[in-house]
Amino acid sequence: MQNQSLKYLESINNPPEFIRGFKDDKAVGFLRRILKRNYARFFIDHQEEAEQLVDSIFDLLQEAANAEDGVLEVFNDSTEKIINEFFHNHDPNHWYTQGYQHYKSVVKPKTFLNILEPYLVGPRILDFGTGKGHLAKLLISKGYEVGLTDVIDQLPSDMNNLDFRLMPDEATIPFENDQFDTVIVKTVLHHIEKKNINHIFSELKRVAKRLVIVEDLPFTDEYISKSMINEDIKDELIKEFLYGLTHEQRLIICKIMDYFGNVLAQGLYYINFPFNFHTTKGWMELGGEVGLSLIDTASIAFIDAGLHTFFQTILVFESDTQL
Ligand SMILES: C[S@@+](CC[C@H](N)C(=O)[O-])C[C@H]1O[C@@H](n2cnc3c(N)ncnc32)[C@H](O)[C@@H]1O
Repeated sequence: MQNQSLKYLESINNPPEFIRGFKDDKAVGFLRRILKRNYARFFIDHQEEAEQLVDSIFDLLQEAANAEDGVLEVFNDSTEKIINEFFHNHDPNHWYTQGYQHYKSVVKPKTFLNILEPYLVGPRILDFGTGKGHLAKLLISKGYEVGLTDVIDQLPSDMNNLDFRLMPDEATIPFENDQFDTVIVKTVLHHIEKKNINHIFSELKRVAKRLVIVEDLPFTDEYISKSMINEDIKDELIKEFLYGLTHEQRLIICKIMDYFGNVLAQGLYYINFPFNFHTTKGWMELGGEVGLSLIDTASIAFIDAGLHTFFQTILVFESDTQL
């Protein structure tokens, strides 16, 4: 085991602190419940197996987090086991692989197009941090002219004909000034290193007048309480997330969900996990530094069709008028 690379922890900010999060029984208990609910709802022909899958994963990772020696190695090995043996990542015929593929390429893009379309202006859209490009492909089928970019090329081979441009570095967008009307930034910003965020914001502003951002938001603030009044919330899990957990626990939940959805369920251990989460106000200030104003916000909490998505916020920015 000596000098074995900690492959699954290499892109993670502060692995010991991240792993310690698994010792918070309340936070992990909440995650178990939300994921079991999402999985049982989506994998309707495999409900019991899906719920069992969630429990087995958390059992193993909580055990790893409590290992007396070599916690990092044990956690890394457990992750590998989960990817290969629990999720059957390499078996295209397994029920999880097939269901997840359908979720990712059909259900999720459709759900988010419905959510985001009211905030889009103009026909020219950039999908920044496009990932596997499914939302961009759907936008094209609806008549939008779409550019795609990311620091990693993850597009499936049947999307080779799309206008995807690989970023030359972590902070430069390879498109012209004002080439787009709107840029979509869906669950990308918390993957960007602190040192690059200011430059990324100015790049986003350079290529489009409007930014439509979707971010996981572990912190409650006045913007959320404005759109979510306690008495109106019917979903007990949303209530618990907002009012029954500390900020610290919500942050643990966001980090683990990020790891679960990307690394465990998809094997995407090579994307960046600095866990750069902020409050709405925090994002507003970061945008403000480059002349972007926050013009609208909306909470999307635990959407019915979500698997690993949960408490998210839409942030709409626009360039300050005619600078
Ligand atoms: C959670 S995925 C989201 C993918 C897609 N937007 C979606 O919603 O399905 C995060 C994406 O951010 C990308 N990413 C990470 N750092 C980036 C950076 N500096 N610039 C652009 N994209 C980045 C990753 O490669 C990954 O595709």
